[in-house]
This record gives sequence, structure tokens and C-alpha cells, in this order.
Amino acid sequence: MHSPATPSGLIGVFDSGVGGLSVLRALRARLPGTPLLYLADSGYAPYGDRTVEDVTQRSARVIEHLLQQGACMVVIACNTATTLAIGDLRARWPQVPIVGVEPGVKPAVLRTRNRRIGVLATRRTIASERLQRLLQDHAAACEVTLQACPGLVDAIESGMLDDEGMFGLLGEFCAPLQAAQVDTVVLGCTHYPFVADLIRRWMGPDVQLVDTADAVAERTAAVWQGLATAPSGPVSTRLQTTGEPVLLSRLAARWLGIEQPAERVCL
Ligand code: DGL
Repeated sequence: MHSPATPSGLIGVFDSGVGGLSVLRALRARLPGTPLLYLADSGYAPYGDRTVEDVTQRSARVIEHLLQQGACMVVIACNTATTLAIGDLRARWPQVPIVGVEPGVKPAVLRTRNRRIGVLATRRTIASERLQRLLQDHAAACEVTLQACPGLVDAIESGMLDDEGMFGLLGEFCAPLQAAQVDTVVLGCTHYPFVADLIRRWMGPDVQLVDTADAVAERTAAVWQGLATAPSGPVSTRLQTTGEPVLLSRLAARWLGIEQPAERVCL
């Protein structure tokens, strides 16, 4: 276990892969000039097909690494790791603020007009007790269609974003939501905002998509401002991956305008 880092450190952010870049984008917009270290655990993606123990152990290994690199707070930019492991991770590092991301059920309930909501997420998130609790607490008055999307994280990790194959794959997952006539779709995995345009093509322009990246950035900013003093070193966003640095660098340049290449790390 590590001692708490000093408040002049950085914010460590991680996901099973490139998906958490959607959260990183919101963090950079909400906290400009704040040092951020993003770790894509692409070598171990997808988390959504792993056991709870695997995801917990893997997330712990990644957090250990982020703390060694100077993180004084951690953002789990992954619904699956949050859903399965955040309780254990907070118990292991009680002195480190850990912010997670969960499917945006509550905002979806506020936005739906016909009380029909769809949730797209990984198999693990869809099957989790935590999601069941969120639904019971906030969506009891709505008809909710849950749809797991096996293979979607892999397809995004492989970089086939603009492919017609990706559009076809999304059609399978959107069909039950169309049949249920949902007017609001929760993007319950941080990878999915990067295929939001294709989901919109299937669902039509009147269906609203809910992504919680801005809410997570807001929460992170509130915690960080309670912790932080001005950063001392050069301020930048660093990118690391346990997978292929070329993919992370390419997507970070395309989506976030980050030109600095990603480094490969072995954990
Ligand atoms: N971005 C992760 C999430 O939000 C994907 C999990 C996975 O690797 O299956 O759940």
C-alpha cells in the first residue's frame, strides 16, 4: 500500500482501453491546465468479459501504478471497473479520493418524455447488482430495456470506427431499443461516445443519448479543488497504455487534439 501523495500531484485516470478518453476530454475541458495521466489498459481489454476478481485485481494494479507516478486522486473512467470494483478499491486506498463513472440512469429519467429508456453497456455492467440498484432507486416509473454489447469494445479498440462493419454491429444492439420505442439511450460504457454518431444513425434524430463524462468531470473538479495546490512541474496530459501506443496516440490526436505520443508501459 502507498502513502498518500502530496496535493501537488496529478490526477490519474484509467480505463480498460481507449474509451476513457471520452472522460479525459471532459476533464481537460473542465480543469484546463491540470496535470493528468491517462492509462489505457488496452493490453487487458475488454474488462466486460472478465470475472469480478480479475477486474478488481487489474484495477488495483493500475491504481498502484498511477500512485507511483504521482497521482493524488484517481478517476476510474470505466463503468465496468466502477460497477464491479470501486467499493474494494476505496477500501484499499481510503486516503485517495476515487471518482467513478456509472451509467447515467438518473439523467436519462429526467430527460425521457415517454418513460422508455434503453441502456447500452458491457455484459458485466448489465448483469451487475449496482445497475439493478440504480434502476430501482431512479427508474422505477420507467420501462427500461437493457442491452449488453459483446464485441463492441473490441471493435472500438481495434480502431474500426468508421467501418461499415461497426455500423452493422451497432444495428444488432440498437434493434431491441428501437423495438421498445425508447426515446433516451444511456451510453453505459465510456467507449460508446466514440460511436455515438453511428448509434444516432440507427436510433434517429429524436432519440437522446446520455453520456456522463461532463458530470464525472464536474465531480472530479469539486474533489480536486478541495485537494490541490498549484502544480509545480510542467503541466500536460500524459498518455500511457499497456497495449498498442499507436492506436491510443491516433485516437487521442483525433478526438482530443493531443499531439504528444503515448508511451507503452508493462504492468
Ligand atoms: N470503457 C469500459 C466501460 O466503461 C469498457 C469496459 C470493457 O473493457 O469491457 O465499461
